[in-house]
Amino acid sequence: MPGIALLGTQWGDEGKGKVTHLMADAMDMVVRYQGGNNAGHTVIVGTETFKLHLLPAGILYPHITPVLAPGVVVDPSVLLEEIDALALRGISAEKLRISGNAHLIMPYHRELDRLTERRLGKMKLGTTRRGIGPAYADKASRIGIRIQDLLDRKIFTEKLDVALREKNLLLTKIYGRLPMNADAILQEYLGYADRLEPHITDTVAEVHTALDAGKNVLFEGAQGMLLDLDHGTYPFVTSSNCVAGGVCTGAGVGPRMIDRIIGVTKAYTTRVGEGPFPTEDLGPDGDLLVERGAEFGATTGRKRRCGWFDAVIVRYAARVSSLTEIFLTKIDVLSAFDRIKVCVGYEHEGKIYETFPPHQTIFHKAVPIYKEFEGWRTDISGARSWADLPKAAQTYVESLEQMVGVPITQISVGAEATETVTRLAPVTPRSAQA
Ligand code: IMO
Ligand code: MG
Repeated sequence: MPGIALLGTQWGDEGKGKVTHLMADAMDMVVRYQGGNNAGHTVIVGTETFKLHLLPAGILYPHITPVLAPGVVVDPSVLLEEIDALALRGISAEKLRISGNAHLIMPYHRELDRLTERRLGKMKLGTTRRGIGPAYADKASRIGIRIQDLLDRKIFTEKLDVALREKNLLLTKIYGRLPMNADAILQEYLGYADRLEPHITDTVAEVHTALDAGKNVLFEGAQGMLLDLDHGTYPFVTSSNCVAGGVCTGAGVGPRMIDRIIGVTKAYTTRVGEGPFPTEDLGPDGDLLVERGAEFGATTGRKRRCGWFDAVIVRYAARVSSLTEIFLTKIDVLSAFDRIKVCVGYEHEGKIYETFPPHQTIFHKAVPIYKEFEGWRTDISGARSWADLPKAAQTYVESLEQMVGVPITQISVGAEATETVTRLAPVTPRSAQA
């Protein structure tokens, strides 16, 4: 029954694509269970680089069944574009399974995402403008349209009519835009239906069949813990659940089905979009992290905000998602520094916080308390075993592990799959020990 969850533990872009790639050989099924095409997963396979937004990275391997579960929001135009682009590179999406219960991103969601951001002005969230928030909002308001609705023209027309009546009022009366035309949307979306139909299925049943048969199922998270709608830095979050619990609701499996929960954690911190970020470094150190880490978004191309490792947020992520292990990424980026800082707590109005503060104002104004580490100042991309790493790098990893309280099992020392150090065997989960 090996169900394995893979989650980002910061604000996304931790390198989840690389970890999926490294695990792919042993996997039978890879499931995306939340988010949509706001994700940007870079996967390097041999000499080829793939940037995936909506499709699970499992799509790249012929032996894997890739799944889009009910918790995902699907923009069908983007999905088909991604499928076509992969086909040109010889990769087939034939095995792709899409839940009929997944919600559709509609043209008005994309438009409203853009318009809301503009209206918010200085208060904007810095979304990816892919319509993610408005699509999840409609789902919660129960006026969303689902993948399965594409298969029934009558139902699709009725639901579109209900949704558009409200959206067109918003577009015309609030935003002074032209209304959207139901017929045009209908034609466009029913056009997608033909191509999507062979993939639409009950993914919950298929995931359980795979787990029951003892297959290896990887639940591939998008975004990161601090972008979680309930547990992140609200309102500067995405609109889905990026914590481990999101696997359960998004894919339709109970917590007992998840044996390992791997946190993917960057050796420093980055964030795209707006919102608080205590360890952000606006000086030369931050610039060096951007440059050495090539910190530009895979989805929007935006420069990522960069700063030192924040042990408070990763400890919080470890707790909320019950991580069993951590895969530490991009430690090679730190090779350029003489001294490396790690935030071990925050100070606010004379009080020290070692756990995630209970109030947003504290987090906004938190002054990081740093512990400094010796840099190693040498190229470590050739390291393949723990012993190959310089002492200072080992100390850094061991200290992070202690601060976060979760074993760091693997360490990425470069973008290529081979540039990885395996430090500890995968952790035996408590369920299997019992
Ligand atoms: P991966 O899977 C980093 C951020 C956006 C914005 C906020 C809300 O590559 O780690 P949204 O469009 O989701 O409503 O935007 O969330 N965001 C990400 N940041 N990595 C991602 O995905 C992200 N997906 C969304 O920048 O701040
Ligand atoms: Mg990304």
